Amino acid sequence: MAAIKKFYVTTPIYYATGAPHLGTLYSTVLADVAARWHKVCGDEVYFLTGTDEFGQKVAQAAHEAGKDPQTFVDSYIDAYKDLWKQYEIEYSQFMRTTNEFHVKAVQAWLRKLLEKGDVYKGAYEGWYCLPCETYITEKDFIPGTVNPACLSCERPTKWVSEPTYFFKLSAYQDKLLAFFQAHPDFIIPRERFAEVISFVKSGLQDISISRSTLTWGVPFPGDDAHVTYVWADALNNYITAIGYAQEDKKEQFAKWWPADMQVMGKDIVRFHAIYWPAFLIAAELPMPHHLLVHGWIKVGDHKMSKSRGNAINPHELLKNYGADAVRYYLLRQLAITQDGQFSVEDLEQKITSDLANDLGNLLNRMIILADKQGATTITVGVWQEEEQELHKKMVMMLEEVSKEMERGYFHIALAGVWKYVSAVNSYFHAREPWKLAKQDPARFMTVLSATAHSLYAIAYVLWPVMPHKMEELLHALGCTFELQGDKISQLKNQSWNKVFTVQKNDPLFQKPEPTNSLSPEAMPDCGPGPLDVAVGAAVSFEPQPTSADVSIEDVMKVELRAGTITACVRVSGSEKLLRMEVNFGDAGRRTIFSGIQKHYSPEQLIEKQAIFVFNLKPRKMMGEASCGMLLTAEDEQGRLAFIAPERPVPNGKVLK
Ligand code: MSP
Repeated sequence: MAAIKKFYVTTPIYYATGAPHLGTLYSTVLADVAARWHKVCGDEVYFLTGTDEFGQKVAQAAHEAGKDPQTFVDSYIDAYKDLWKQYEIEYSQFMRTTNEFHVKAVQAWLRKLLEKGDVYKGAYEGWYCLPCETYITEKDFIPGTVNPACLSCERPTKWVSEPTYFFKLSAYQDKLLAFFQAHPDFIIPRERFAEVISFVKSGLQDISISRSTLTWGVPFPGDDAHVTYVWADALNNYITAIGYAQEDKKEQFAKWWPADMQVMGKDIVRFHAIYWPAFLIAAELPMPHHLLVHGWIKVGDHKMSKSRGNAINPHELLKNYGADAVRYYLLRQLAITQDGQFSVEDLEQKITSDLANDLGNLLNRMIILADKQGATTITVGVWQEEEQELHKKMVMMLEEVSKEMERGYFHIALAGVWKYVSAVNSYFHAREPWKLAKQDPARFMTVLSATAHSLYAIAYVLWPVMPHKMEELLHALGCTFELQGDKISQLKNQSWNKVFTVQKNDPLFQKPEPTNSLSPEAMPDCGPGPLDVAVGAAVSFEPQPTSADVSIEDVMKVELRAGTITACVRVSGSEKLLRMEVNFGDAGRRTIFSGIQKHYSPEQLIEKQAIFVFNLKPRKMMGEASCGMLLTAEDEQGRLAFIAPERPVPNGKVLK
C-alpha cells in the first residue's frame, strides 16, 4: 500500500480589525477546497487559518474604538469562527498571533537571527503605509502624489523616523534567485513569478523588523524599547502554529513543515515570496512547496473592500443562496490567474444554469423516472459501447480534474467537471430512457445505472467545493459520503459495479428569484428548457419549444462567409481595434475592423482563414467603413479565440 501523504495548507492570517468580508472568505475557501481535495485523495491534511492581531494598524483601530487592543481583537474572533463554520470551512487550527506560544517562538527565532548576525540595530527613515503595514520605497508610490500614496492600497503614507533592528535581506538576493530558478512552480500561477523575480533582481535592501514607537507587538528579545514589526511576527505563524521552537512539539513540527500550499492574494505576494523565504533560509528551515496567489475580487475597476464601500456582505449571500452555491461561484467565476468581477446577477444565473439545470435536474429526472417505473433499486447495467464511452469520458475527466485541482486551477477543474455533466446529460437524453422503460427494461436499467454511476463520481469530485450539497446528492443515490483511501484513484480504476437505491427528495438546488436590480437584458427569460424540471412537477421528457428559439428562416437571414485575412494593422489612436483586409474570393475583398487588439497581434492573423458575418450593415469606424464582423468566442480565462473552419474552404463560401 502506498504511504499516506501529508498536505499542509495555510491561509493568510486576517487583521483582527473587523469582521471577515468576501475577500478574506475567498482566500479561505480556496484553502478549504485544496484541503478537502487532498482529503478525498486520501492524504492526511492540516489546514491552518487565523488572525493577525499585533501591529500599529490594530493598535490604532482599537484606540479609535476606545478599547484596549486585546479586548478589541478578542471581539472579532467569533465573527471569523462563525462565518467560517457557516461556509463549511473545515480548519484544523485557528491561529491567533497573541497566543503565548507564538510570542515565545517568534522571540526564539529572533534570538537565532541576532546570534547569526542576520539582524542588527540601526535607524530607519522613510515612508510607511499603515493600511498595508509596510515600508514604502519610491518604486511603490503612485507617481505624482504629494504625500506619496501607496501603489497597493492607494492611500497616503506617513514619514517615520526611528531606531530599529534591521534584517539583512540584501544578503539573500542571490540565494533567493537561485531558489526561484530551481523551483519554477514555487509561485502559482507562474505569471505572478515574473514580478517577484524582477523585484528581487532590481536589488534588495535590508528591512526594518522592529518598531520603537509602538507597544502593541511581540516584545523584541533583549530590547524593551522595541516590539517586532508585524510582518516579521505574522509570517512566522505558519511555523509557530505547528510547533516551531516548542520543545514538546518537535515531532509535530517535523511532520508538517514545510507547507505544501500557502494561499494568499496578490497584494501580499511580496511578503510571502521574498521576506518569508529569506526568513526561513535565515532560520535554516526548508521552503514551502507552493504559494497559490489569487487575484482580487473587483467591483467595476476597484478592489472590493469595506473601506471603499463596495463590499458584498458574505452573510447576505449565505442567507439568499446558501454556502455551497457561493463557494461554487467564487471558484468557478474567479480564475486564479486573474482579478475577477463578483456580481449577484451573474451568481444567480450560474446557480440557475449550472447547478439547478445542468446538475440538479439531471439527478431529479433520473430519480423521478426510476420512481415512476418502480425501479428505485438500480442494479448494475449491461454495458454497451455507449456506456463504455461514457465511462472513458469519466476517467478522462477525473484525470484532468486531478491535475488542475492539484495545482490550484480550480476554475479549469470545474469547467472539466461541467463538460462531463453535459456529456452525461446528452447520454441520458439521447437514450430516451422514458421510452425504453416499456420497450426494453434491461436497457432502461443500464441507462439509469450509467447515469447514477456518473453522478456518484461527480459528487466525489465536487465534494471539496460543495460538501453539503454533494453529500445530499449521494444520499439521494442511497449512498453515504465517506473518506476512505484515495477515492479519486478508486473511481478511476474500478469498473461501474454499484447498486443504487434512489430516493425522491427536494430539488438539490433552488433557482433563485431574480434580484430586483436584475435587468431583463442580463438574464433573458427563455422559459423552461428541456432539462428544466423540478421534482413533483408534471414531467415531460420531450424537448419543449422555448420563446428563445428562432426559425430556420431567421437563421438564414445572417450570411456567414469564410474569408482569409490578407493584411492586418493596429489602428493608431485605438487601443482595441485591428484593421483587416479580408479576401472573400468571388465576393470580393473587404475592410473589416475588429476590437481584438488585446488578444491578437496583426502577425498572428495574417494568412488565417476565419468566419465573418458578411451582411452586417457597414459601420463607420475611425473614419472608415467596416463591412462585416469577425466571429470570436471567449475562453475560461477571458481570452478571445476567432472562429475558423475545421479545414480550409474556398474563400467567400457561404456557411449553411
Ligand atoms: N494580515 C495580513 C496577512 C498576513 S499573513 C502572514 C493581511 N490581512 S488582510 O486581513 O488584509 O487579508 C488578507 C487576505 O484577504 C489576502 O489574501 C487578500 O488578498 C484577501 N483580500 C482582501 N480583499 C480582497 C479582495 N477584494 N479580493 C480578493 N482577496 C482580497 O493582509
